[in-house]
Amino acid sequence: MTLRAEKRFLTLLSGEESCTVPAARYPIVEQMLNGVLGSEVEERWKVSLGRFAAWIRANPELVRNAMERSAWVDPPKNAYASPLLLNLELTTRCPLRCPQCYCDLERGKDLPLKRAVTVLKQAVAEGVGYVNLSGGETMVYPHLYPLLEVCSGLGLDSAVALSGWGVNRQSLRRLMDCGVGAIYVSLNGSTEEISRTTRDGFSLAIEALELLAEARFERTAINWVAHSANVEDFPNVAALCSKYGVRRLFVLGFKPDSARRMNGVPDARQTLALASDIRRLRKETPYLSIEVENCYSPLRAYLSRKFFGNLNVGISKGCGAGRDGASLDVDGNFTPCRHLEYPENFESLGDYWRDSPVLRTLREVEDRPEAPCDICGLSANCLCCMAVSAKLLGRLVKANEYCFLRKEPLDGTKMEKVHSF
Ligand SMILES: C[S@@+](CC[C@H](N)C(=O)[O-])C[C@H]1O[C@@H](n2cnc3c(N)ncnc32)[C@H](O)[C@@H]1O
Ligand code: SF4
Ligand code: SF4
Ligand code: SF4
Repeated sequence: MTLRAEKRFLTLLSGEESCTVPAARYPIVEQMLNGVLGSEVEERWKVSLGRFAAWIRANPELVRNAMERSAWVDPPKNAYASPLLLNLELTTRCPLRCPQCYCDLERGKDLPLKRAVTVLKQAVAEGVGYVNLSGGETMVYPHLYPLLEVCSGLGLDSAVALSGWGVNRQSLRRLMDCGVGAIYVSLNGSTEEISRTTRDGFSLAIEALELLAEARFERTAINWVAHSANVEDFPNVAALCSKYGVRRLFVLGFKPDSARRMNGVPDARQTLALASDIRRLRKETPYLSIEVENCYSPLRAYLSRKFFGNLNVGISKGCGAGRDGASLDVDGNFTPCRHLEYPENFESLGDYWRDSPVLRTLREVEDRPEAPCDICGLSANCLCCMAVSAKLLGRLVKANEYCFLRKEPLDGTKMEKVHSF
């Protein structure tokens, strides 16, 4: 369990579950800690905390201390007080060559284990809850198992993204024995033919899913990247989740590939069809959690429109680089995100989070949006991927020429290639 003190609220994180306790509820938490019964409404709220309630009761000192800290904690503008999530780039090596891949796979580097462990310890001290391990191909990293043991020993929830390469009964057993949290298998299509346009190793991914199902591993997820070549196939991938007992399907937005191209981004018609498939499948397959990653902010913003407003709000509404997450690159330098190559060398993760000028810039991009985001009607609820502007324009700005969900501005201004809905 990770307990975080944020400005006027607490967050508790445990695996896939999390809960937020706003400052207005602190008196009720005090009642819980003192074993006092409250009104019926208060009792119902305590019940809604589920298993977090038992943890709160069992850790009065920690909880009181966090409530106190949350009164004076001073997070950077537009960011959490410390990262929620840390990404580690373990290796630049990979035996596959996916056409879509954003990685530079010709450098033959591995993240030194000692450096990774140092930063993981700093992450614990900062209240980081999640660690994502990725590459290159995660399974070729020579220190993967010891690193996972360190994560679980430190109480950090880890997630490993893999292609299926190197996954067999033995390696899977070892991943589980080392305490891996979640395993994300990358699969961009339900058939070899559909998958091939964007990814290598279709059969490896399928075999990995079979082995994970056989091992009854509970936290398997599928990472599916939306592309013009595979959007129509999304319902079939959801069906594969049912077949292999996968309970989480992540929809990832396309980011610039290793040649800094954005070829194959779904167009407006395809993106809207995908949105309607997601809506429908969420209703039809309630046992499958279909989650659109924060980085795919336009789609999240579109799907979050409700009669009374848009629910895609807050620090995690979109690009989380420097807002809810940070990365460690293969050379051991801090970066805002795996896709933003702005390495900085700081003594600690905390210093980086608080003092990095690059992170400061990222937290201010919303103040000066550029076309087409500046007049888009979804802009207040969308923070697009900064890797697009960084890699295509060479600047960190809120601007995504490759977004086809742009909405008519509310003031009637004319916009090119506008999509009205
Ligand atoms: C770079 S891979 C590293 C881990 C492992 N090799 C794998 O493929 O799962 C991490 C994730 O990024 C996704 N990915 C690769 N290139 C991408 C791109 N241009 N845009 C968005 N996601 C991409 C992959 O499909 C995979 O789910
Ligand atoms: S996406 Fe993963 S498996 Fe494919 S080439 Fe890139 S690192 Fe390798
Ligand atoms: S145009 Fe910009 S603000 Fe509007 S939905 Fe697209 S990325 Fe978001
Ligand atoms: S730059 Fe932001 S949106 Fe893009 S991949 Fe990184 S964290 Fe996600």
